[in-house]
Amino acid sequence: MNIPKTKVAIVGCGLVGSTTAFSLVTQGVCDEVMMIDINEEKAYGEMLDLKDSIEYLNRNVKVLKGTYADCGDADIVVITAGAPPKMGQTRLDTLEVSAKIAKSIVQPIMESGFDGIFIVVSNPVDIITHYIKELSGLPKNQVIGTGTAIDSARLKNFIADLVKVDPRSVHAYSMGEHGDSQMVPWSTVTVAGKPFYDVIADNKELVGDVDLDELVYKTTREGWEILDRKGTTYYGIGTACTGIIKAILHDENKIIPVSTYLEGEYGEHDVYAGVPTVLNRTGASDVLEIHMTPGELARFKESTALIREYTKKIMEY
Ligand code: LAC
Repeated sequence: MNIPKTKVAIVGCGLVGSTTAFSLVTQGVCDEVMMIDINEEKAYGEMLDLKDSIEYLNRNVKVLKGTYADCGDADIVVITAGAPPKMGQTRLDTLEVSAKIAKSIVQPIMESGFDGIFIVVSNPVDIITHYIKELSGLPKNQVIGTGTAIDSARLKNFIADLVKVDPRSVHAYSMGEHGDSQMVPWSTVTVAGKPFYDVIADNKELVGDVDLDELVYKTTREGWEILDRKGTTYYGIGTACTGIIKAILHDENKIIPVSTYLEGEYGEHDVYAGVPTVLNRTGASDVLEIHMTPGELARFKESTALIREYTKKIMEY
């Protein structure tokens, strides 16, 4: 008899990697979490610390320290290693360094026999995810970026604060680049099924003067608001990443806006962008094509054009 176990490897034990691991362990999402870092002592220390939490949790998640060679039987490898943007840089400015790091990681992981799902967190995430698809040769459903999952969570928070409801009662996607060019298809945003435009019209005293462009700007800026104050972000992205892993390992068919390879959807080809995606045991199983207005689609295409331009650059490194 062979009862399968679920194993997630975390590459990069910085704040994003270790927070993701902690979130996986505390939520009991998988059977094994394996910590990998170029600094092996750091990975070992994180493993020891995480292990100490098990006694007080709902289930035992085995925490391991590993190397790229140990990824052969992993279901998911999360890539968080990269070059975080410094003050004044955009995520795109970190492209070259992050590309080099990705290259040094993916090759040995593929040599281990890995045939699971890569979840890429490293920025600029849409472009690095595309690069990892090329480097790994894995099919598109097995290479996913966290994309605009975190931006969409931020957007929902802003809308929820305005209309005074739980953010989980808001349906809203930020789409395109996980970066400054992301856009929101407002015509599709609802509060528990009620179009946001109607919510605005019916609640003039509460949201009558809302500036939608300002909300998009705030969503885009939120990562920087955090970075300016504490140097980096990790709780939000670590939890978003855990939500993506949970949807995959538990075969949830949950729709999350992740960075997915487009092959005709939204009229786009050969580009990774944040779009609502059905996640299950096969990884990115399907892209949900929501109906946008022509103006919204044009904004989405501006964003994908930018991603495409930088993706071309990375392929030359
Ligand atoms: C953020 C990082 C993940 O926006 O880019 O929090």
